[in-house]
Amino acid sequence: MTHSSQDQALSSSIPGLGVIIMAAGLGKRMQSSLAKVLHPVAGRPMVSYVLDIACGLAEEGVAVIVGHQGAEVRRVVETADGQVSVAEQTKQLGTGHAVLQARAVFVGPPPRNPSRYLILNGDTPLLTAATVRKLLAMHDAQGAAVTLLTAVLDDAAGYGRVIRRRRDEWLQGAADNAVQSIVEDKDTSEAERAVREINVGTYVVDGEFLFPALDKLDPRNAQGEYYLTDIVQMAVQQGRTVSALRLRAIDEGLGINSRVQLAEAERVLRQRIRERWLEAGVTMRDPASTWIDADVTIGRDTVLYPNVTLEGRTVIGDAVVVHSGSRITDCTIGNRVEILDHCILRESHVEAESHVGPFVHLRPGVTVRRKAKVGNFVEMKKAELGEGSKANHLSYLGDATIGSGVNIGAGTITCNYDGYKKFQTVVGDGVFIGSDVQLVAPVTIGQGSVIAAGATVTQDVPMDALVISRVPQVTREGWAARRRALQSGQVPPPAPAAKRAPVKVAKGSTSSKRSVKKQSAGQRTKRR
Ligand code: UD1
Ligand code: CA
Repeated sequence: MTHSSQDQALSSSIPGLGVIIMAAGLGKRMQSSLAKVLHPVAGRPMVSYVLDIACGLAEEGVAVIVGHQGAEVRRVVETADGQVSVAEQTKQLGTGHAVLQARAVFVGPPPRNPSRYLILNGDTPLLTAATVRKLLAMHDAQGAAVTLLTAVLDDAAGYGRVIRRRRDEWLQGAADNAVQSIVEDKDTSEAERAVREINVGTYVVDGEFLFPALDKLDPRNAQGEYYLTDIVQMAVQQGRTVSALRLRAIDEGLGINSRVQLAEAERVLRQRIRERWLEAGVTMRDPASTWIDADVTIGRDTVLYPNVTLEGRTVIGDAVVVHSGSRITDCTIGNRVEILDHCILRESHVEAESHVGPFVHLRPGVTVRRKAKVGNFVEMKKAELGEGSKANHLSYLGDATIGSGVNIGAGTITCNYDGYKKFQTVVGDGVFIGSDVQLVAPVTIGQGSVIAAGATVTQDVPMDALVISRVPQVTREGWAARRRALQSGQVPPPAPAAKRAPVKVAKGSTSSKRSVKKQSAGQRTKRR
């Protein structure tokens, strides 16, 4: 087989297969107001993992059984990439009753009648498609009525036990040691409780056998529920074959019923994700402290320092460096970007070869164009910083479009909010903005202009202009020395020349009182 046809065989759907996912339970043992299957594992709702497997395999469609928080589960299900239907289980009467709700999806108009069903618990996010394919192959090869996935655990508490014909020999794998039944934890006898082979909750069931068997379920058991697992015994009683595939990697069988198990699933899944990216050419200085959500993608030769968190649907390019303590959520980061320590980036785009950080906060809706720089304590929101532009120190840039080759001086603030509404700031290409400038929006700075340090810009600026708005500097020679003397009770030294020191207007200040007045009057006329 060539590599690509192998890939195809591993990803193609299986003819005649319908899939049923049980996701209606609340999950009491989670102690949560959130339905169990919605709890995130590595940044995705638990149920979406089995949903992915289902969509990759089912040629005859997928039915998801919803109940608790059905609307929310439905929303997750609708994002799936496949032919997925939702069936409601209004009362949670057990897993057998849950699967029965799928009958309307598969049987009757439009008729689908799959030749066999794959049935999955919604709370087993570590299961892999490769294992499920093996289970299906075994089912088909043995012509079984039911094929189930099992695992041998040190501590089987809480799980349904797999009861075989010759209990003491099943570990040796005796050929005639067929599965007889599954006994739920709460229904076990003492001898059964000692069995360490458990039912994972993943089954393949013959298409003609399933629904008639479910119709015959009897809820007289410890929990008063219709147990799906009772169909195993039914098949045996009908003389049908029941086969079982034992998991080698028992992690895959972990069913999440409690927060402890949720934490364990998170640990295993995170480890799997890290290994995948390490193999794909990503360097992690400290893998254990590197957190990568399931839907993140990372390019080759990217380096992640300790305590980096990559969340949601973040896409990281090639040869990116992300330093310690940065958290990046739902962002696109271009090739060769450098992100220094302790940045928070959300729903933003950073284009190739830009530099971000340290201590940068990009709130949603930011675009940092190629080769731009955002540094030390800069916050941005719904703003674009053009190619090669720099905002390196202590700024807030919100609701702003900033052109290319712009310098944003230290401490520059876009005043985008008047207490009622937000307004836009537009800065043209090649503008130089000095330190400590306030841009009072709405305002537009024409390209090539220079805004002197300390300016409060309230009116639009034409291209290539200079804006200075500052109180003229007053310098009184000897003033401080006289004040010190007065404070300490000494005779103050005489003021030089006149009684008051001459006022010197420094360069860079507005040159006369008159022009200052004129300018501030002009600014006062501006209305919003
Ligand atoms: C189930 C199996 C048990 C197995 C274990 C593996 C049964 C009777 N028992 O037990 O043998 O070892 O899984 O993890 O099947 N659900 C519904 N509707 C219901 C009840 C449950 O949709 O009325 C869903 C839940 O949302 C969950 C799944 O079915 O996704 C399993 O239910 P859960 O209550 O967790 O079953 P377990 O007691 O763990
Ligand atoms: Ca469970």
